Amino acid sequence: MSSTKARSETIQNHFKYRNFLVFPTNGLSMLSLALCCSIASISLIFYSAFSNQSLSFNFLNHKIDANCFNPGKVDGFEKTNISHILFGIGGSVNLWNKRIHYIELWWKPSITRGFVWFDHKPFSNMTWTETLPQYKVSKDTSRFNYTCWYGSRSAIRMARIVKETFELGLENIRWFVMGDDDTVFFTDNLVTVLAKYNHNQMYYIGANSESVEQDMEHSYATAYGGAGFAISYPLAVELVRILDGCINRYHEFYGSDSKIQGCLSEIGVPLTKELGFHQMDIRGLPYGLLAAHPVAPLVSLHHLDDVLPIFPSQTRMESLKRLISGYEVDPGRTLQHSFCYDLRRNWSVSVSWGYTVMLYPSLVTAKKLETAFQTFQTWGSRHGGPFTFNTRTVSSDPCEIPLVYLLDRVESVGGDETLTTYNRYLPWWNNQGECRHCDCTPALAVEFFNVSASKFSPDLWNKAPRRQCCEIINGSDGVNSMVQVQIRDCMHFESVTPP
Ligand SMILES: *[C@@H]1O[C@H](CO)[C@@H](O)[C@H](O)[C@H]1NC(C)=O
Ligand SMILES: *[C@@H]1O[C@H](CO)[C@@H](O)[C@H](O)[C@H]1NC(C)=O
Ligand SMILES: *[C@@H]1O[C@H](CO)[C@@H](O)[C@H](O)[C@H]1NC(C)=O
Ligand SMILES: *[C@@H]1O[C@H](CO)[C@@H](O)[C@H](O)[C@H]1NC(C)=O
Ligand SMILES: *[C@@H]1O[C@H](CO)[C@@H](O)[C@H](O)[C@H]1NC(C)=O
Ligand SMILES: *[C@@H]1O[C@H](CO)[C@@H](O)[C@H](O)[C@H]1NC(C)=O
Repeated sequence: MSSTKARSETIQNHFKYRNFLVFPTNGLSMLSLALCCSIASISLIFYSAFSNQSLSFNFLNHKIDANCFNPGKVDGFEKTNISHILFGIGGSVNLWNKRIHYIELWWKPSITRGFVWFDHKPFSNMTWTETLPQYKVSKDTSRFNYTCWYGSRSAIRMARIVKETFELGLENIRWFVMGDDDTVFFTDNLVTVLAKYNHNQMYYIGANSESVEQDMEHSYATAYGGAGFAISYPLAVELVRILDGCINRYHEFYGSDSKIQGCLSEIGVPLTKELGFHQMDIRGLPYGLLAAHPVAPLVSLHHLDDVLPIFPSQTRMESLKRLISGYEVDPGRTLQHSFCYDLRRNWSVSVSWGYTVMLYPSLVTAKKLETAFQTFQTWGSRHGGPFTFNTRTVSSDPCEIPLVYLLDRVESVGGDETLTTYNRYLPWWNNQGECRHCDCTPALAVEFFNVSASKFSPDLWNKAPRRQCCEIINGSDGVNSMVQVQIRDCMHFESVTPP
């Protein structure tokens, strides 16, 4: 059948027409307008001739109106928002009832756009509500080769989701974002991250696995699929043209994500790493990892069924809802780290906003505070490392580990400020109880932290990254059960440097 060829011609025409529109920003003459519309109509004819989806016809038609007759509204002139992202979520009918809860956490009906792609038609008894994305059923993949002895052929189907999503021909899409049914996206931050990049260029954005063993097996060049990754429209145009061939060429690759990366390496587009995507290829307690988040917006979490709850005193779902309660009030600040000293009491305080506070009854260097406690193991071998970031071991001596406080409440104060409260939690790794031989009675008396902060402007993420600063606002002298912390921009020449 020549339909594949016809489709790719359609796509190429479609692409030409987009490029044409995007680049001549000034002086869009009547001539170029006319040209633009004739290229668009060729593309339209291809669509109507070869596409069996009447939907694409309408969408494209709409697009011509928007682009040709309103040149001021051409793609690229307005800031990327959630409507420009099309999600392709890899689902499976058998796991749907377990995974639905993850999607419900982040999917915003009639705001987020995209589809869950199933392996086969859902059972008639499956729940489907307006609050969930619509589903599609992936096309048959039996003609493709798959030879990874420890993997599953479902990787082929998953790899093709980007193509099947693209071929729906939806309008005004700048980014295709792929994810699993157990990926939790923090969509405000995803938009912040993608908006930094020019969607008219070819970008492949995501992150590696945390476990070095995984990166060695599935490549450091891969954006791991569970963490979610983004492909800009022009890159998708080129990718879908060669993807089916790549699936056969990289038949021995385990996952859909490394098959896609193989294909992108043929185009020559490398991974642009963004540190807020989290594949979460770890086992055990994610606490240490999340409490030491890099200076980058939190974009995604994955494998939440495979790690212990984020808040150790709660269930997985309660934990996520708690984290999201902070995120909803201040998305950009979620998990952001700040350190400060109380020089009257020789304390160090590490705040991971919206999650946890750690109190050390001593002055600890910033270098140490920014390093993750290794409360987890590697994904496959369940070893103590190596990871793609540094960790420090958790001492079994209670005098060597900080006091831990976990998020209890989040409040919005006066519109642009937040107040978060953190309650003391006896560390789960601490079997020896409290430190008895330190001079830390005042620290042990602290039951709560109140942390105030201004809301984090997403524009800050367009600047060079810098951890924000904090200060301890002194209460009464002596023993207090509450410590108040203010997070703020750092001043010139301010650093977390002990005297
Ligand atoms: C997103 O941007 C488009 C312009 O490209 C605009 O028409 C639309 O209203 C915006 N949507 C949201 C949700 O802000
Ligand atoms: C739904 O239907 C499928 C197949 O018909 C069956 O295997 C499954 O047990 C049913 N589930 C429920 C909750 O009834
Ligand atoms: C699949 O593998 C078989 C056996 O290695 C080979 O003969 C065939 O050409 C492959 N098919 C494709 C489409 O690559
Ligand atoms: C804080 O540490 C400094 C230097 O180690 C020491 O001189 C000082 O007495 C300590 N202050 C308190 C209140 O422990
Ligand atoms: C600390 O926060 C709680 C709310 O979480 C509030 O009731 C209390 O007044 C705050 N304390 C101070 C000193 O701001
Ligand atoms: C706060 O700290 C300053 C010195 O840093 C001290 O002079 C003042 O008395 C303290 N206030 C209270 C209420 O403890």
